[in-house]
Amino acid sequence: MYVCLCKGITDKHIRDSVDAGAGSFREVRRQLDLASQCGKCGIVAREVYDSYLNSY
Ligand code: FES
Repeated sequence: MYVCLCKGITDKHIRDSVDAGAGSFREVRRQLDLASQCGKCGIVAREVYDSYLNSY
């Protein structure tokens, strides 16, 4: 599903970023340029990130 409409970023992009070694939510945001436009996706993106980490 799309998490960030401004940048076309999906939940899979976030998970792939974690799998590729992003060590923090800040790093995921930086790598993907996530939540850098309107910022509305920040909370949902954080939830996707947290729930993926908790799934390990
Ligand atoms: Fe992500 Fe706007 S929806 S910056």
